Amino acid sequence: MKDQKVILAPSILSADFSRLGEEIEAVEKAGADIIHLDVMDGKFVPNITIGPGVVSSVRQCTGLPLDVHLMIEDPDRYINSFIEAGADMVSVHIEAAVHLHRSLCRIREGGAKSGVAVNPATDLNGLRYILDDIDFILIMSVNPGFGGQAFIPSSLEKLRDLSEMLSRFRSDVMIQIDGGISPENAGEVVAAGAHILVAGSAIFNNPPYKDVMNRIRKSVPGGYQVC
Ligand code: DX5
Ligand code: ZN
Repeated sequence: MKDQKVILAPSILSADFSRLGEEIEAVEKAGADIIHLDVMDGKFVPNITIGPGVVSSVRQCTGLPLDVHLMIEDPDRYINSFIEAGADMVSVHIEAAVHLHRSLCRIREGGAKSGVAVNPATDLNGLRYILDDIDFILIMSVNPGFGGQAFIPSSLEKLRDLSEMLSRFRSDVMIQIDGGISPENAGEVVAAGAHILVAGSAIFNNPPYKDVMNRIRKSVPGGYQVC
């Protein structure tokens, strides 16, 4: 998987929700690989977004994998509902899951890929003990809660540290980066180890989507263009 083209995951947080179906169809046509959905509870992060109902509606609009990023406290309460709604990938925050290993097992038992999301100030060390239970690690390159924030530069060092740790343990866990990703920094984050790029405002605020997504791919060596 790591030798394949970069994986682009538009985050619908910056989409026009009054035309959500059309927006998803448009990014799918423009070459999206995954649709990223941000779930916020107004407690773990200072914003409230969507629940399983919206995920289930999005499931009707696209055949692309749905990647549900849970920015909620006590995520175990909702993992099954989001998988039943159609999530193919579910990430929980290491800072919000008291029994992280159990949450990851629950995601896999539900048939989805298990992800751990990590805030900018959170250490990576504990993850090495549960690598076998993780399909992807989401490195937050902004503080979670809102789209359109500036990329935190130290995230590059974190990506390199994580990449090094994964190769040390011969792990094929994938690395996802989320927050402030644009054509300007996509090359750097991939060079530092990211495989899946989540981008919200850089895509949805800059139509036509195919052009901006091609600019992201072009800035990544081997990223390929969608024609
Ligand atoms: C932020 C979310 C992101 C957000 C990224 O908490 O997790 O997925 O949509 O938005 P941009 O790409 O605008 O930083
Ligand atoms: Zn996200």
